[in-house]
Amino acid sequence: MPVSRVQFHDLKDRCVLITGGGSGIGAALVEGFLRQGARVAFVDIDERASRALTERLSGETGIAPQFIHADLRDIEALQAAALKAADVLGAIHVLVNNAARDDRQELDAVSAASWDESQAVNLRHVFFMSQAVAPHMRLSGGGSIVNFSSIAYLLNMGEIPAYATAKAGIVGLTKSLAGKLGPENIRVNAILPGMIVTERQKRLWLDDAAIARMQERQCLKRSLTADDLVGPCLFLASDCSSGMTAQIMIIDGGAL
Ligand SMILES: NC(=O)c1ccc[n+]([C@@H]2O[C@H](COP(=O)([O-])OP(=O)(O)OC[C@H]3O[C@@H](n4cnc5c(N)ncnc54)[C@H](O)[C@@H]3O)[C@@H](O)[C@H]2O)c1
Repeated sequence: MPVSRVQFHDLKDRCVLITGGGSGIGAALVEGFLRQGARVAFVDIDERASRALTERLSGETGIAPQFIHADLRDIEALQAAALKAADVLGAIHVLVNNAARDDRQELDAVSAASWDESQAVNLRHVFFMSQAVAPHMRLSGGGSIVNFSSIAYLLNMGEIPAYATAKAGIVGLTKSLAGKLGPENIRVNAILPGMIVTERQKRLWLDDAAIARMQERQCLKRSLTADDLVGPCLFLASDCSSGMTAQIMIIDGGAL
């Protein structure tokens, strides 16, 4: 059944904050939560893509998600964005930490600055956004945090040392936050996507041969798209998964 026809009734009117919601998987998540009747805000650095998404969704559904422009590498800007989201939406109950940037790097080209930059754009904000949103979740009696990691860190991919480190770190962080926040009824889980064929991935990294190689490896012989992540994320956000925390969910068509 297409995910647009599945309803998680408890998500109606839930306050949801999504990072990196302007394009790619994040945009599919913004749309997915909006179509559940949730109140959605998203943070992104890409003004043009985010405005276009907001306009399309408000035209199609009559409801606009709240776009908050911020650079998640800037912790003060991130904290201000979390406050703004809570002001606009009400107490946030669901946080999806999705933003990332999967730069490729040759071993010899990695510098201290590029390493720190990668951790800032891929890992650090996951902690600080969770820290900023946790007080709002306490106010609403609990919540669900969904962190986007990747199977990439399990595939021995030599060209992404800093990104792979960050994505592995997200799993450790997920489990630590789950331990800390569980007593307050805040659940923390991670999603590990496989190869998700988005426009950006096709533009930058994926040619037909790479897509064919991954399909050969997968049990499911089709390309996964951003929409394939929506159902799993809705499930982790919803009370349907209320006994589940500190876990990882792999959505890779059976590649691993
Ligand atoms: N696409 C894949 O094949 C794939 C595979 C495994 C994991 N993932 C993970 O899924 C998530 C989404 O992936 P995607 O392919 O949609 O990524 P994407 O690069 O297409 O989108 C990321 C979004 O984050 C935003 N963003 C980037 N840096 C930002 C910053 N400093 N501040 C605010 N916003 C910022 C971008 O503008 C963009 O809208 C990521 O965490 C990624 O690591 C993706």
